[in-house]
Amino acid sequence: MENSYNKLLADNKAWAEEQVKRDPDFFNRLSHIQTPEFLWIGCSDSRVPADKITGTQPGEIFVHRNIANMVVHTDLNLLSVLEYAVTALKVKHIIVCGHYGCGGVKAAMGKTSLGIINKWLRNIKDVYLKHLDEVNLEINEEAKTNKLVELNVQEQVMNLAKTSIIQKAWKHEQRPHLHGWVYGLSDGIIKPVCEMSPGSKIDPLYEYDNL
Ligand code: CO
Repeated sequence: MENSYNKLLADNKAWAEEQVKRDPDFFNRLSHIQTPEFLWIGCSDSRVPADKITGTQPGEIFVHRNIANMVVHTDLNLLSVLEYAVTALKVKHIIVCGHYGCGGVKAAMGKTSLGIINKWLRNIKDVYLKHLDEVNLEINEEAKTNKLVELNVQEQVMNLAKTSIIQKAWKHEQRPHLHGWVYGLSDGIIKPVCEMSPGSKIDPLYEYDNL
């Protein structure tokens, strides 16, 4: 029986050869520097590959993915990626991209215990509680999930704006722009749902005045 992962290695070889054929300097150029304009914070879902759905090439997007594209202020992994993208790479745009039918969002709306994932989903439950009335206006479970997917993306964009990393870059460099998008699994189309430009107002409770 052939191991399925061998296909990945074979396809990788073919891809690398194809790149060199098209652009002989491709790997040489990329091995020295990366200057991506975008940071992508997306869901780990295998059906939402950041580069494929945006038609971007290696070197163009810095990527962080987790279950349900969350921006959790105690998540060292996310914060490290964010700080590096903003202060070292100097990205101009940060995109939080959720997707309709998100399994993480669905699970957070349910009552099934999933072990350690419960801890992660708690962050989504908090968003659910905050917007319960609005979500419950939707007519069925699917519509409720998709409404929460949109609201969750908005909350995560707000969570970015609450960080000192973003507030500092907004104050001194008037970047990055923050974007909330939702990808449709059924049609492949991305719908922009919110945007925050540098200097946008946030709740004063979260403002730092010594950055
Ligand atoms: Co998802």
